[in-house]
Amino acid sequence: MCGIMGYVGPQEAAPILVDGLRRLEYRGYDSAGIAVSNGSIQVRKARGKIANLESLLESEPTGGSIGIGHTRWATHGAPTDANAHPHTDPSGEFVVVHNGIIENFQSLKQQLLDDGAEFASETDSEILAHLVAREYDGDLVAAVRRTVALSEGAYAMVAMTKREPGKIVAVRKISPLVVGLGDGETFLASDIPAVLHHTRDFMVIEDDELVIVTDEGATVETIDGAPVDREVVRIDWDAEQAEKGGYEHFMLKEIHEQPAVVTETLASRLEDGTVWLEDVGFDDEYAADIGRVWITACGTAYHAGLIGQEIFRRVLRLPANVEYAHELRYADPIIGPNELTIAISQSGETADTLAAARLAVDKGSRMLAITNVVGSTLSRYADDILYTRAGPEISVASTKAYMAMLIAQYLLALRIGAARGTVDSELAAKVSHGLHLMPGALEEVLSREAEAEKAAHLVTDAEDMYFIGRGLDYAIAMEGSLKLKEISYLHSEAMPAGELKHGTLALITDDVPVVVILTQRDVYDKTISAVQEVKARGGRIIAVAYDSDAEIAAHADVVLRIPDMEDLLAPVAAVVPLQLLAYHVARLRGHDIDQPRNLAKSVTVE
Ligand code: G6P
Repeated sequence: MCGIMGYVGPQEAAPILVDGLRRLEYRGYDSAGIAVSNGSIQVRKARGKIANLESLLESEPTGGSIGIGHTRWATHGAPTDANAHPHTDPSGEFVVVHNGIIENFQSLKQQLLDDGAEFASETDSEILAHLVAREYDGDLVAAVRRTVALSEGAYAMVAMTKREPGKIVAVRKISPLVVGLGDGETFLASDIPAVLHHTRDFMVIEDDELVIVTDEGATVETIDGAPVDREVVRIDWDAEQAEKGGYEHFMLKEIHEQPAVVTETLASRLEDGTVWLEDVGFDDEYAADIGRVWITACGTAYHAGLIGQEIFRRVLRLPANVEYAHELRYADPIIGPNELTIAISQSGETADTLAAARLAVDKGSRMLAITNVVGSTLSRYADDILYTRAGPEISVASTKAYMAMLIAQYLLALRIGAARGTVDSELAAKVSHGLHLMPGALEEVLSREAEAEKAAHLVTDAEDMYFIGRGLDYAIAMEGSLKLKEISYLHSEAMPAGELKHGTLALITDDVPVVVILTQRDVYDKTISAVQEVKARGGRIIAVAYDSDAEIAAHADVVLRIPDMEDLLAPVAAVVPLQLLAYHVARLRGHDIDQPRNLAKSVTVE
């Protein structure tokens, strides 16, 4: 996730672009840059936060009233000055900014290299500048169109050339893009809040559309050139709502970003059932020889690891252990050289996770990091890295980063399973297909938010609450319970459904809420027995179940439905109603949802 900006108007472009980038910084902040057109193209870019770009602009100002800008969240290539956007072609006459991923960039880059091109960065984005320059024959719009036809993936881009001063051309292919219409000036941005203080009139660009901005305003066309008559919408959010994209809290916004996060984390990594993981360097021989997988993490990342453990054990028949990092580091574990350690950390900076990962490396294990932050400490220790592409997560209670960790582990399991030949090919094909369908399934779950809110009303006044499930459902129960505790301050415990009768059942009395997750068809009947134990003691049942589950309605007070899918993938969808439940309970209880008491986003002390 990155933020992009554009400006055409009578004012100095640089301050407007920088101000917009600052407001887009939540989308990424490892480098920032602008390009301003004034007879020539002047590019200024710097690694790090926007303040670094501002210092650079103080010493090397730009002049001109047309420009484009970018704030980056690295996906291809480390956060360096060279990898920062904007990118130009070698002549410096064509310049682009880009948000998203060019899936076929390796083959495009190879073609360009074969033609003698030289690249200044490691990014996929730079090829767009080369392609626009190569395809240019006097018409920037046509060159951008041809470039887009060649470039697969989900992205948005903005291009400008010295040869056609006064014009910016932008395209949306899934990644967001809006046009702000001011008085004699026009803005482009990744989202509305970035320019809301300049104008309240917007055109929201849709997929496969192109917009041409000049000092006469903005013209929208389809990517094939058909004119589009786009309605102008007037936005009446206040500034605080705007920062949260119109949502009441960052947590809710991030929950709703999850379909897009799944798309980004899968992008260019899963094609026709084959997995490509750009920073995972081990070969098939190594994968085939892995004797055991250790997964280590803390908090929500640990819960993501629970899912990974189940997948490795059950599907790959590969011994796997997930361990809390703060336990593993003092457990003197027997970790051998043919064992793979997977350290999972959103921030890549959690002290305990870093220490456990170091310990595994010292014991001779290969270490693979699953992290959301390019260049984080964990990524620097790692032999292999699988970046989640969730973008910055602001809410302390993690949602979209957890989601991306799950997707990353499915990809890794498919990759290792293919090398070991231990995954049934029919199942692998179903999982690959199911992953591609997942963004749509998540949209469907999110559209049912009202049911989670209804369930929240059943829980708000409770003092204790329980989450139960078996196998993968138990792992989801753990995460659902943690989300609730973190933000609602309601005491909650998660346990395997079969464990309830061994003690906790003593605490189930009238109206005690119990959330049961029922997505694993092979143990469905067993879990229903636990549901009946709860009902017999007067407890309230909130169930998470498939659309096709006709039985559960007879047992449950509320059913939170998810679309039918492979049981193996169900955790990805089943966690969403639980995130929404936690959110709505906390809201009804009037808590500070994005910054819960006593907690920190990243714990960098022991
Ligand atoms: C803190 C946060 C949790 C997070 C955990 C691990 O406790 O409050 O939300 O899951 O750290 O963070 P990491 O960055 O390593 O995933």
